[in-house]
Amino acid sequence: MKKRVLSGMRPTGKLHLGHLAGALKNWVEMQDKYDCFYMVADYHALMSEYADPSAMKDNIIDNTADFLACGLDPERSVIFVQSDVPEHLELNMILSAITPLSWLERCPTYKEQLREVEGRDLTTYGFLGYPVLQAADIMIYKANAVPVGEDQLPHLELTREIARKFHYLYKKEIFPEPEGLLTQTPRLLGVDNRKMSKSYGNAVNLSDSPDEVKKKIKAMITDPQRIKKDDPGHPDICNVYSYYKYFFPELAVSIPGECKSARIGCVADKAKLADCIIELLRPIQERRNRILSDRAGLEAVLKKGAEKARAVARETMGEVRKAVGI
Ligand code: TRP
Repeated sequence: MKKRVLSGMRPTGKLHLGHLAGALKNWVEMQDKYDCFYMVADYHALMSEYADPSAMKDNIIDNTADFLACGLDPERSVIFVQSDVPEHLELNMILSAITPLSWLERCPTYKEQLREVEGRDLTTYGFLGYPVLQAADIMIYKANAVPVGEDQLPHLELTREIARKFHYLYKKEIFPEPEGLLTQTPRLLGVDNRKMSKSYGNAVNLSDSPDEVKKKIKAMITDPQRIKKDDPGHPDICNVYSYYKYFFPELAVSIPGECKSARIGCVADKAKLADCIIELLRPIQERRNRILSDRAGLEAVLKKGAEKARAVARETMGEVRKAVGI
């Protein structure tokens, strides 16, 4: 039997190159090896977007179109929206009952977000419980593995602790202890060298037009010590080079030599990168446009996904209710 994988993304905006490199590419490859569940985590998005969730519906459709355009295959994977499967909340309730407050308060992601997220009040009951709902997402499908970025590892640790506590309290082993599958990709920075983030607007979106791609790449910061075109460059500290390395490894072989010997200037180098990214995105965008032009088809994919997910979730909840005695 194949091992089961579950992962999710919050529909808080457009997907970008960071999502492709850090998650989607990996998710697509996993479809051959694992029994895959991929979710649009709208309840998790609501925890930060609750004051204005008006874009959520559009984001769900838009993100799902990107999932499919990048190669997630509804024949092989279960692709669904979290809020279409109410069993997540049922399990969340039970897990909330057994999770000590101290486990949540000391969670590093919680403390960091409270400190760093601006313009939103995250001192809510729901946000403190964010990792409990995430544990329910994972446990309701009895997932063995969860592909995530490094930042999510504390949530997985918490999931394992909650599963162990459940087993200890109710004397019944229902859940596997899920392991994190770390993506091998180094973190890509945004075009301004800051962390890639929807709120900074510093990412190349999968849906960006060629002109938008050119504009964003043109603004990228290269080697600050390379002032004139004749100065030798330092590709190892250049963000443009890190994009080449990740997305176009075949070009990353020749570019460093040309840069260090000042045979290629930063402007030309960036123009070339922009052209490559435009070509990389072209087939994805063609599929994306086709998918978005058949809205009923897209909704049918999500409906079917929700049905498949619910069938599994209901079964787990049956076992959980029996173990707990409610
Ligand atoms: N917390 C994840 C993120 O912000 C999204 C998420 C929600 C998730 N539920 C999940 C990821 C379950 C993996 C498994 O990226």
